[in-house]
Amino acid sequence: MACKANAETRMNTGTARPALDRTFSVAPMMDWTTRDYRAFARTLTRRALLYTEMVTTGAILHGSPRERFLGYDAVEHPLALQLGGSDAGELAECAAIAEQWGYDEVNLNVGCPSDRVQNNLIGACLMAHPEKVAAAVSAMREAVSIPVTVKCRIGIDDQDEDTDLAYFIERVADAGCEVFIVHARKAWLEGLSPKENRDIPPLNYPRVHRLKASRPELHIGINGGIKTLSECQAQLEHVDSVMIGREAYQNPWLLAEVDQRLYGEPGPAANRHAAAEALRPYMARRLDEGAKLNHLTRHLLGLFQGCPGGRKFRRHLSENAHRPGAGLAVFDDALGLVPEPAPDRSLVG
Ligand SMILES: Cc1cc2nc3c(=O)[nH]c(=O)nc-3n(C[C@H](O)[C@H](O)[C@H](O)COP(=O)(O)O)c2cc1C
Repeated sequence: MACKANAETRMNTGTARPALDRTFSVAPMMDWTTRDYRAFARTLTRRALLYTEMVTTGAILHGSPRERFLGYDAVEHPLALQLGGSDAGELAECAAIAEQWGYDEVNLNVGCPSDRVQNNLIGACLMAHPEKVAAAVSAMREAVSIPVTVKCRIGIDDQDEDTDLAYFIERVADAGCEVFIVHARKAWLEGLSPKENRDIPPLNYPRVHRLKASRPELHIGINGGIKTLSECQAQLEHVDSVMIGREAYQNPWLLAEVDQRLYGEPGPAANRHAAAEALRPYMARRLDEGAKLNHLTRHLLGLFQGCPGGRKFRRHLSENAHRPGAGLAVFDDALGLVPEPAPDRSLVG
């Protein structure tokens, strides 16, 4: 079922939401963390905070239908909407809409380096305009009661000192932002593509650790290049939370141990087949609504990464799920190519 509004979401689930705990989150990723990926992620972890792809204020205010940009399923909570924009009034309006739609948090993107967004003063280029970000955060906070958070970089271009980052954080924190998720590498806005900007500028975790040490009252989360839950545990010695992007997408089974290892609670999936099975009713519903099978299964291609039969699973879906009329039988055939493992009950709850 699609969620349209806060009240409806609550009616649909029938239960109060747990308090927002952002110890571990999956990063916002355009085209990757779609609602279908997020529903899949929920078969692996109940506790991870999930982020939407960035949605621009323009898309929310002028795009149609709004469901296309904001629709999600009740199972996706806890769920944060990431906004792209810089106009304080528009961002405040969109934050209020996000709250009406039942999102648990609204996050401002100050980290995305693409040219397309720079031209509209969206994303990482805003690191050079702390006053603008502060005004936006202040307006958003006035408009909503859900948390307003910021995802940023450690710097851009020639901002290459702790003091540059500290100044940005100070201005935005003065406007009331208490939660920052910091991608621990600079963005070079000229000369590198968005993809290169996720790999080439070196990671600088100590700068984020020093930020936390100097502003202990703020929630400082770290992001960038983290691939294992052991690394998350090590990071949590220095910062308040960890956000993983690419690894959570390409190797989604990583999420299956998040609840147990980071929250001390059993996770929902006994094994990869059980996770796939748990997603079936959701997939059936989405297919009934007109979704294409490959739009659903593309997020599962990495589920059996490293397992016997994993490549056959991937190939079967890649070759067949896009065909006209492809339905759940294609998915079941792909699953049949991977041997059933003995269930590992230690993870299940
Ligand atoms: C395909 C893709 C799309 C992304 N889209 C967004 C986005 O919409 N908003 C954002 O703040 N970051 C975006 N990012 C950056 C990630 O959120 C994250 O900061 C980055 O990938 C570093 O984390 P990782 O090393 O764990 O992947 C994107 C990354 C990827 C790979």
